[in-house]
Amino acid sequence: METGPRTGHSSDLFVIFSLLDKKGALVEALQQFINADVNLTHIESRPSKDNPGKEYDFFTSCSECSQEKADHLLELLKPLVTSVSVEQSKSTDENFWFPRTIYDLDEFATRVIDYGDELNSDHPGVKDPVYCKRRKEIADIAFNYKQGQPIPTVEYTTEEIQTWRLIFQELTKLHPTHACRQYNSNFSHLVKNCGFCEDNIPQLETVSKYLKKCSGFQLRPVAGLLSSRDFLSALAFRVFPCTQYIRHSSQPYYTPEPDVCHEMIGHVPLLADPTFASFSQEIGLASLGAPDDYVKKLATFYWFTIEFGVCKENGQRKAYGAGLLSSFGELQHCLTDKPSVLPFEPEKIVLQDYPMLEMQPVYFLADSFASAQEKLKAFAATIPKPFTLHYNPYNQSVEELDNRSFTKLTSSIQADVEMLHKALQKI
Ligand SMILES: [Fe+2]
Repeated sequence: METGPRTGHSSDLFVIFSLLDKKGALVEALQQFINADVNLTHIESRPSKDNPGKEYDFFTSCSECSQEKADHLLELLKPLVTSVSVEQSKSTDENFWFPRTIYDLDEFATRVIDYGDELNSDHPGVKDPVYCKRRKEIADIAFNYKQGQPIPTVEYTTEEIQTWRLIFQELTKLHPTHACRQYNSNFSHLVKNCGFCEDNIPQLETVSKYLKKCSGFQLRPVAGLLSSRDFLSALAFRVFPCTQYIRHSSQPYYTPEPDVCHEMIGHVPLLADPTFASFSQEIGLASLGAPDDYVKKLATFYWFTIEFGVCKENGQRKAYGAGLLSSFGELQHCLTDKPSVLPFEPEKIVLQDYPMLEMQPVYFLADSFASAQEKLKAFAATIPKPFTLHYNPYNQSVEELDNRSFTKLTSSIQADVEMLHKALQKI
């Protein structure tokens, strides 16, 4: 099977192939990359979904590969593999690809960095086969999900609910004093409307429907970490990629990866806030079509805001980042005088280094979500792009502003201004 657009120039390629679990098969397949003079830069594997235990799927990236070399490689691989496909890297395509509608998220939302059955060695569940099986079972919901479908329910076990309970109990002690007011206000609504309580792990579908009503955001199940570009792209369409599995019960207060506790307790309450939702979407919109170095900068900006943001409230510092609001230790740490707290300047934020697995030594203090969004917009305007994008909420798509769409947008803004004018006359 061969798929994907092909062009005559050199570009990065993804080669995906399946091999029978046979001694030496992988070595022989990899030798063909050398024989075809193709520069292999990345490889990862997982048991085949179609034939688990007997077959393995391999996902490889190759840099600067001409069509002739790719064709040669395909011919060499065919006798050795059970299936093979080649896809041109969308990030280096001449007509730079990015999702144009919410349904385009199906193109990459399953392209996770970590797979359900191949946990990193530092994961507390890595040596627990029952946990690994369960995590994969839940992650498979995301692998099979298509945009627009209802998100299947997970029947969480007593052990899983107990893990949730411990985290919920500890964090809700701190939130009233440590979290920003928008968080606390929305959290109380989630208790009333979405079953947020210590005895229940909220269902993604219930929460997603509720968020849509509040801010237009929705959740999409995801099977692990996405690349920065893919994750930020989803935000552009007011979609939040959300894990559904839970951390290992042996370490309820630690997880090396996002899990349903981090998503529900950390992210969801503020996604219900319209101003915060708009700020989050702005980061996503800025990333669409941005060069790789700017996507990296926006991912850093996301880290210091959506994950580890602090803001001013009545002269005090409060937490709004999900990484803080879902961590008992760091939520306390971020309000002490131990870390450095710097002014909110996007051009400095995007260059700030940060540790991934320790408490943050630096935070950036936002005056408000609205002012943070204005500053982000000013930074986004410096990103080199050959077009200006406009989000159309009616069909959940982005449009490049050309003469025709510019005229359409202008008349829509005019209609809004007229409506405001009439409303003001009545006040
Ligand atoms: Fe997060």
